[in-house]
Amino acid sequence: MTTTETAPPVLEAEDVAVHYGGIKAVDGFGLRLPAGRIYGILGPNGSGKSTFLAAVTRLVPLTRGRLLIDGEEYHTAPPTKLARRGLARTFQTVRLLPELTVLQNVQLGADLHAPGGRLRSWLGRDRPSEAVEEAIERTGLGDVRDAWPTELSYGMARRVEIARALASRPRLLLLDEPTAGMNHSERQEVSELMRKLRDEGLAQLIVEHDVQMMVDTCDHLVAMNSGTLVAEGSPQEVVSHPAVQEAYLGKRWRSHA
Ligand SMILES: Nc1ncnc2c1ncn2[C@@H]1O[C@H](COP(=O)(O)OP(=O)(O)OP(=O)(O)O)[C@@H](O)[C@H]1O
Ligand SMILES: [Mg+2]
Repeated sequence: MTTTETAPPVLEAEDVAVHYGGIKAVDGFGLRLPAGRIYGILGPNGSGKSTFLAAVTRLVPLTRGRLLIDGEEYHTAPPTKLARRGLARTFQTVRLLPELTVLQNVQLGADLHAPGGRLRSWLGRDRPSEAVEEAIERTGLGDVRDAWPTELSYGMARRVEIARALASRPRLLLLDEPTAGMNHSERQEVSELMRKLRDEGLAQLIVEHDVQMMVDTCDHLVAMNSGTLVAEGSPQEVVSHPAVQEAYLGKRWRSHA
């Protein structure tokens, strides 16, 4: 067995609740993500997936519950301190700065988390850091490193976002709908990239509506509805679970029995 079976999970969320006044966006949800695995969260629109990621990244306060990285509680730490603990994320929409090149956008991911937070990319003086070169290389962006975001395909732009997140050298990466708006081959490329990063030791938590992509990409799925957990297990187990079929997938998915 690998050490992941005995080591504390890289991310642990316990009985997490996020209420907005009377709206219980997340209401008693949790998971334990071992190092170097890809976990996926499935759930219909409005089921609380993005709110849960916002809670894990400390962008919204918990109404209740606990969050731990490597067994250490962090649910009172400010979001700016999370990169130091090895956590990075991408957002549901592309957020690249159009006036910066690909390389500079990726550099921003490293600078924002560097001690002192010095923005080298704006100063344009220093050579890119080793972490930035490595992020560009791992995501296959070498050929477009000097391009502007507006010159990139949508699939490539999302790849730059992943590179920017990797520039802080995380051990845990959260991705909110990384393949939304992509065509089939772009989706497959992102899925392949995630699996490669997993094999290099990066744990990932993905939110995505494309069930086939989730089954093909994830080691483990967690299904959410109305802010709570409805099923969890292997991808095949979860997509064939009656509550999941009924709550979310319905006609959109039939498991290959
Ligand atoms: N800032 C907020 N204030 C009030 N209600 C909110 C806020 N953010 C989210 N909600 C509500 O919380 C619930 C969960 O929303 P969330 O965005 O987490 O769902 P989701 O699963 O990510 O949906 P989608 O698949 O459409 O992205 C929804 O009912 C939403 O309207
Ligand atoms: Mg969402």
